[in-house]
Amino acid sequence: MSPAENKLSVYHNINLLYILEGSPLRKGSTMTDVKPLQNGYIVVEAGKIKEVGSGNGYLKYQDANFYSLAGKTVVPGFIDSHTHLVFAGSRENEMRRKLQGESYLEILKSGGGILSTVRKTREASFDTLYKEARTTLERMLSFGVTSVEAKSGYGLDLETELKQLEVVAKLKAEGPQTLVSTFMGAHALPGEYHDNRQAYFALLEKALYEIKKRNLASFVDIFCEEGVFSVSESREFLGLAKELGFKLKIHADEMSALGGAALATELKAVSAEHLLASSDEDLQKLASSDTIAVLLPLTSFYLNKPFAKARAMIDYGCAVALASDYNPGSSPSENLQLAMQFAVLKMKMTPEEALTAVTVNAAKASGLEATKGRLMPGMDADFVVLAAPNLDYFFYRFGINLVEEVYIKGKKVK
Ligand code: NIG
Ligand code: FE
Repeated sequence: MSPAENKLSVYHNINLLYILEGSPLRKGSTMTDVKPLQNGYIVVEAGKIKEVGSGNGYLKYQDANFYSLAGKTVVPGFIDSHTHLVFAGSRENEMRRKLQGESYLEILKSGGGILSTVRKTREASFDTLYKEARTTLERMLSFGVTSVEAKSGYGLDLETELKQLEVVAKLKAEGPQTLVSTFMGAHALPGEYHDNRQAYFALLEKALYEIKKRNLASFVDIFCEEGVFSVSESREFLGLAKELGFKLKIHADEMSALGGAALATELKAVSAEHLLASSDEDLQKLASSDTIAVLLPLTSFYLNKPFAKARAMIDYGCAVALASDYNPGSSPSENLQLAMQFAVLKMKMTPEEALTAVTVNAAKASGLEATKGRLMPGMDADFVVLAAPNLDYFFYRFGINLVEEVYIKGKKVK
């Protein structure tokens, strides 16, 4: 390391600096309890936050490199806690079918939807998948996303699921973003197992052992949905995953109120995701647990569905995170900022809640809370500089990219 790299870096004159100090999980009313430092500064040493404060306290670091961020708002790097990052091809051919009234599940039943991406992903080489995902990550980075959870689930056979997870492992090793891997072989029942669900679960079980052995994923997720996987199938499969030491996530109540959210609390899953159709009773169960509600407004928008009841969830006391659900079918967009803006403009969340939902709670939903999501001393110096004089402006100027600069572990990456 050259002496210059060894130096401290001080970012000062920050108009509003959001640290989001305190608890690594923010539930209910604590989500909006977020106050910025005015005229703030951040001191970075070896990729970590050394000190944050306001005023001139940084002047004692005489030998540091100084950078003024006058007039800007600085927030922790955004964490996209639900994506289907690795896949091949695209599905623009389904757009007109959807517009003519065919539902997402009807398209899936006819062999399209997830299953058509599965066919393309099986055929694609490691390199093709890697290059596509690399491009996606770069696009996410430009929107301020410094950490990404990535689900498999477009292989639905051992070889291709492992291929997807290995692509994530390579991307993770290369950086700059931090990646968290989720095995989602239970994304759909592949055609060849149509008459033999048992056999598919036997394959998934085998995959769990293999993935554990090779340390290719820390989470396991399942699509618990009418016509996909039932609550009892999900309970059994996730139960085994938990025994093997995986953390759990569930695609729950996306289209129908099957009870996935309640199952998530029963299994102490880290998160229940989607939740468009959950009953109020199940949302209250969620509120009395530490399971995080990961909401995906871009998917509601794109599938022309109602938005999740974020306001009620937070008022009940839930911890809410927001994510893009980036995937080729129900959310072909990397724009997490737009998800945040929908949360405020359409789901009645406050700007502070939306910020908490992509930082503190998203870190927790991704198992990254020890190092990410807050700008406290000792944590990774992942932060973004917004071209916005205040937080409200960020939500008001919707649909464009308001991220000006991005830092990961203290290094400027945009
Ligand atoms: O989260 N719901 C299941 N999985 C994805 C969609 C995947 C696809 O359509 O390719 C989702 O919406
Ligand atoms: Fe999803």
